[in-house]
Amino acid sequence: MSAAVVGIIGGSGVYDLPGLEDVRELTFETPWGEPSDPLRLGRIGETKVVFLARHGRGHRLSPSSINYRANIDALKRAGVTDIVSVSACGSFKEDLYPGLFLLVDQFVDRTFARRSSFFGDGCVAHVSMAHPVAPLLRGRIAAAAAAEDIPCVTGGTYVCMEGPQFSSLAESQMYRSAGFDVIGMTAMPEAKLAREAEISYATIAMVTDYDCWHPHHDDVDVASVVKIVQANSGAASRLLGRLLRDFPAEHEPCPIGSDRALDNAIITAAPA
Ligand code: ADE
Repeated sequence: MSAAVVGIIGGSGVYDLPGLEDVRELTFETPWGEPSDPLRLGRIGETKVVFLARHGRGHRLSPSSINYRANIDALKRAGVTDIVSVSACGSFKEDLYPGLFLLVDQFVDRTFARRSSFFGDGCVAHVSMAHPVAPLLRGRIAAAAAAEDIPCVTGGTYVCMEGPQFSSLAESQMYRSAGFDVIGMTAMPEAKLAREAEISYATIAMVTDYDCWHPHHDDVDVASVVKIVQANSGAASRLLGRLLRDFPAEHEPCPIGSDRALDNAIITAAPA
């Protein structure tokens, strides 16, 4: 058993973590380059926490220029065992309304301009992504939302687009008819890299808009996203605060093996 260290990756509008105590900032290079921002290490209650602003403070980095490998590598080196990421997203379902939190359990990766693996020629590995979200972690987030009376739904598919432009109407209708629930620009390849790094991963998708398919709602724009994110930042902080205060001191082995993902994944022969 190892000590649990929870990494929080804050998305659009979530650039710090209220209530984080004994904070120290850590800036470092990884073999993949620099993370989006210095890591902020501290604790909430007795739980060790590492916070990272995905887009950097001041939102300097677009989804395509975030160095996802450096971010996950930096969190791994800081001892993180579990990552909770917060991502704003558009909704394809009438009942997934702006302001709701959705704990997705599946991702569809439509990105095409990002480095999405730590492996490659020289060391080839294929991790399972059948179940990309760690169920115990997701369950803990759901329990924290219930304890705080925060509207939150469990289950759903998040399609990750490259961006930075939002979808066309035809794309939005296609995703909707494919049965996807929400769309965002950042959870991939983050979830894949977390799996390769054997870190349990779950996303809190914060619904901010109805993308552009809904006949009775305006098409998504940045102003509408920012307005909902700001209106929900208090709820997001309460949710994370409760989750972290109630987090177990020891990392709980993941029932789907997300923390042991490399056990059966490396195909390159070990040097003789
Ligand atoms: N982030 C927030 N809303 C979004 C949308 N409609 N499409 C892609 N990313 C988003």
